[in-house]
Amino acid sequence: MMGSAVERPDLHGRRDVVSFVRRSNRMRPNQRRAWEAYRERFVIEVPRLDTSTSVHPAASLDLVEAFGRDAALIVEIGPGAGESLVPMAEARPQANVLAFEVYQPAIARLLAQLAKTDLDNVRIVEADAVDAMEHLVPARSVDEIWLFFPDPWHKTRHHKRRLLTPEFAALTASRMKSGGIWRIATDWADYADQIREVLDSDPSFANAYPAGCVPRWAARPITHFEQRGLDAGRQIFDLTYRRVG
Ligand SMILES: C[S@@+](CC[C@H](N)C(=O)[O-])C[C@H]1O[C@@H](n2cnc3c(N)ncnc32)[C@H](O)[C@@H]1O
Repeated sequence: MMGSAVERPDLHGRRDVVSFVRRSNRMRPNQRRAWEAYRERFVIEVPRLDTSTSVHPAASLDLVEAFGRDAALIVEIGPGAGESLVPMAEARPQANVLAFEVYQPAIARLLAQLAKTDLDNVRIVEADAVDAMEHLVPARSVDEIWLFFPDPWHKTRHHKRRLLTPEFAALTASRMKSGGIWRIATDWADYADQIREVLDSDPSFANAYPAGCVPRWAARPITHFEQRGLDAGRQIFDLTYRRVG
């Protein structure tokens, strides 16, 4: 918790259950070096409400100022150390990629990878994607969303922590442009079922592959989270939804 947190203007509706564990942000020396060296270039500072991953409801983000240009917007939720973000942002130089990640050591690793490239189309906010989507992302501004291997919370008693709920789907829909694409991958069959159930019953979304199986998105490199799932014998589910209306 931040000691000098501003007062909560609206306690009502504040989430007690979040999709991540509040872990220590202690970094290894090389992570600390990357953090110090590159945060100014890639990390956008935002006002907080109470915790270090919250976003103050009065915050706003000027995308043109943040990226130095007006371009198509991709939002990645939970990139971790950026194993897929970095090559995918490199493959889309024409798009701005805005990433929301709660875990600072992962961001530091992502910064170290970004620094090895010439990329200037990636910006990161250290924040809960729910807060960030709500308070930082303008309505109807996003062309594409990437959500790859969200924490599965596979025990039944933890399902309430899963990020992709009907409420989050509605919030995300409100930030997407008409025709925008939401690409999701998970290695947990029951989470894939839950996601399909949520997005199929939201009239703002249409399954881009209504007839059945979504082919693996070839542009998405295999991260160690995906490999871990494969090694454990799990199937990988790609899901692709289009924002309609
Ligand atoms: C299982 S990892 C997957 C990382 C990466 N997408 C990949 O495929 O390698 C899930 C990531 O989501 C982040 N995360 C979980 N909940 C989040 C939230 N509400 N907002 C932002 N990031 C979140 C975690 O810190 C973690 O880095």
